[in-house]
Amino acid sequence: MKIIVINGSPRTNGITASILHSVESELISLGIDVEFFNLTDLDIGHCLGCCSCYKTGHCIIKDDADRLSEKIKHADGLVLGSPTYASNVSGLMKDFIDRGHFVIEQLLKDKYCITVATGENYGFKNTLKILDDLVIFSGGTLSGHIALKAPFNSKEVLSEKIRNLIRKASCRVEAKKKNIFQNLYHNLIFSIGIKPFVKRKGKRYTGVIKGWADMQMIKGENI
Ligand SMILES: Cc1cc2nc3c(=O)[nH]c(=O)nc-3n(C[C@H](O)[C@H](O)[C@H](O)COP(=O)(O)O)c2cc1C
Repeated sequence: MKIIVINGSPRTNGITASILHSVESELISLGIDVEFFNLTDLDIGHCLGCCSCYKTGHCIIKDDADRLSEKIKHADGLVLGSPTYASNVSGLMKDFIDRGHFVIEQLLKDKYCITVATGENYGFKNTLKILDDLVIFSGGTLSGHIALKAPFNSKEVLSEKIRNLIRKASCRVEAKKKNIFQNLYHNLIFSIGIKPFVKRKGKRYTGVIKGWADMQMIKGENI
């Protein structure tokens, strides 16, 4: 089993990284192969909004976004962590979300995911919800989520409560535990929202339709 861990903080030694490294250690202790990425070390530009990826299946910008997205596609799961910036995910994380082919392409189908959000004041629950929705809307199973409020730059040791959440979420990933309510919710979003939308777009979304057929989400390339 292979899991990709992504840190959306520009600080590679901050509190978000600290939680993500704890998740990494826990997953490794369960015999899982883990690859850790700090988005700040990668070259990921802003989305240009041209929508050509929906037609061709890949981005016109040649940088690390498609490469990281491909790694996720071939992994069994994803751990996404971000600090809260203005009650939202960091700019680094938002750029990757926009460029990573998540929701329309259903990148996280059959993948087990954990989300992590940190903040020091108000809004970190919004950040967590943004990451949680991304997982569910992209077809993933949310195996657990962790929100931590801590003073900026604090080097505090993670509490037993947080360690427990990390342990439980990692075990659910390792056990490949599905969640029937999340599945139902996702099926509804996909069949009522995403699929008719893509059908209306027709030939402009052939890359998306081919991707769904490859994942056997639809029969042939006929929706
Ligand atoms: C530009 C900026 C905006 C921030 N906005 C918020 C915010 O809206 N709410 C909050 O709780 N914390 C906010 N913070 C604090 C960080 O989210 C918090 O310290 C976070 O845990 C830092 O994570 P890191 O150590 O992994 O970088 C902000 C920090 C920065 C630099």
